[in-house]
Amino acid sequence: MSDLILAIDQGTTSSRAIVFAPDGRMVAKAQQEFSQHFPDDGWVEHNPEEIWKVTTQVCRDALDQLSDDQRVLGIGITNQRETTVVWDKTTGTPTYPAIVWQDRRTAGHCRQLASDGLEDDTRARTGLLLDPYFSATKIAWILDNVEDARAKAERGDLLFGTMDTWLIWKFTGGKVHATDATNASRTLLYNINDQCWDPVLLERFGIPEAMLPEVLDCAADFGTALEGLDGVELPIAGVAGDQQAAVVGQACFEPGMIKSTYGTGCFALMNIGETPRLSQHRLLTTIAYRFDGKPVYALEGAIFVAGAAVQWLRDKLGIIKSAEETEALAESLSSNRGVYLVPAFTGLGAPHWEPDARALICGLTRDSGRAELARAALEAVCYQTWDLFKAMEEDAGERPETLRVDGGMVANNWLLQALADIVHVPVERPDIIETTALGAARLAGLQLGLFGDLNDLAQHWSLDRRCEPQLGDQERDVMLKGWQAAIERARNG
Ligand code: G3P
Repeated sequence: MSDLILAIDQGTTSSRAIVFAPDGRMVAKAQQEFSQHFPDDGWVEHNPEEIWKVTTQVCRDALDQLSDDQRVLGIGITNQRETTVVWDKTTGTPTYPAIVWQDRRTAGHCRQLASDGLEDDTRARTGLLLDPYFSATKIAWILDNVEDARAKAERGDLLFGTMDTWLIWKFTGGKVHATDATNASRTLLYNINDQCWDPVLLERFGIPEAMLPEVLDCAADFGTALEGLDGVELPIAGVAGDQQAAVVGQACFEPGMIKSTYGTGCFALMNIGETPRLSQHRLLTTIAYRFDGKPVYALEGAIFVAGAAVQWLRDKLGIIKSAEETEALAESLSSNRGVYLVPAFTGLGAPHWEPDARALICGLTRDSGRAELARAALEAVCYQTWDLFKAMEEDAGERPETLRVDGGMVANNWLLQALADIVHVPVERPDIIETTALGAARLAGLQLGLFGDLNDLAQHWSLDRRCEPQLGDQERDVMLKGWQAAIERARNG
């Protein structure tokens, strides 16, 4: 009888269920996309009920692939972070669609708070910036724009959660309203120094405390999944936001280690150890993981669009049929021919933080075509990683030795080499690039006794491919100058 963990990765565009063996082997897998709603300029919404349906469907599909001698011990959940769900405590009905992390509708609220001089204090408490990316202003928007919502919330009739919390509440039939410290640290309401919901912030954003979930460690008892799995009952034993789960999956347990995950967006996290430190370069300070009540922190650079730019080439321009085509297209050119794509479709994240910036393509000539655009979309991912890496290097005061990468995009070998060339650091891809789901499985495995400690997990990390930087300095300088000029244009609208 082999003991397995079911990892749920509730992402921005799809939900995945992967069953892992303790050695990291994927035993079963199912994935399903769900609808994206864009009701207004810069608005992005999901339907929480659809996400619950799709998520339980993929779990059942994955469990159905197992044979009789395979036994699942428990569930680990990882999720798109910050995305905000508010629902009725009694009926379970969402008060409003989920407002997705990419949504910019609360940019004005954030600007107002910043002009009231509250950015530094908010940052000292949360490690975050006043940006619509985080949950607090999204919750406030729902309370202020849905009839009766604020009154209900004040009476204690509404609950808030990020996707992990929503799924835990649904799985447990409304018995458990909880999150983990990493997800809490993305709400702009959680004090990362004191490890509590911060009363000053609740007041500042006008959020009643009764709405908020209990905050647990990443490996903990999150209750038993009773619903959604056709009668199968399993303990939910591990939870972390997707980027933090990837830190665990990539075994970045030593200060100075960096991982960068390429999904819809790109998120680079550098472990900074047990003392929170604020960035001098507008990076975020966040909780990387927490065990036994002791947090380990990370500096994080968040880029909103990475794989989403390739999706845009596919779905809006129709110049590729699948994301995989970009590899051959980029490779077909010996240079970028001066074409740059700044994918600021939802503003610019770290280190620029310009919610009103918009995307642009520049440098086009009559012979520019699909290949130039595909290459520009992939190069944009590398330049943005370079922006983050440089900021982290300056904050840390030393150059990290390697960059561990993961996520669907890094199956693209051209991109891997381009990352090493542009960021100018050896880039390592592990055997398992589903590190987000793997991290969630590892957390649940720790709680359920499949692993002893973090050293034990680090032993399980294994390298698939390492790319050394090969590009000459002169060529790299020209490319970086072109990127910086393009970014300036996007920032200025
Ligand atoms: O902070 C947003 C992030 O958690 C979303 O990740 O993988 O869905 O792009 P992903």
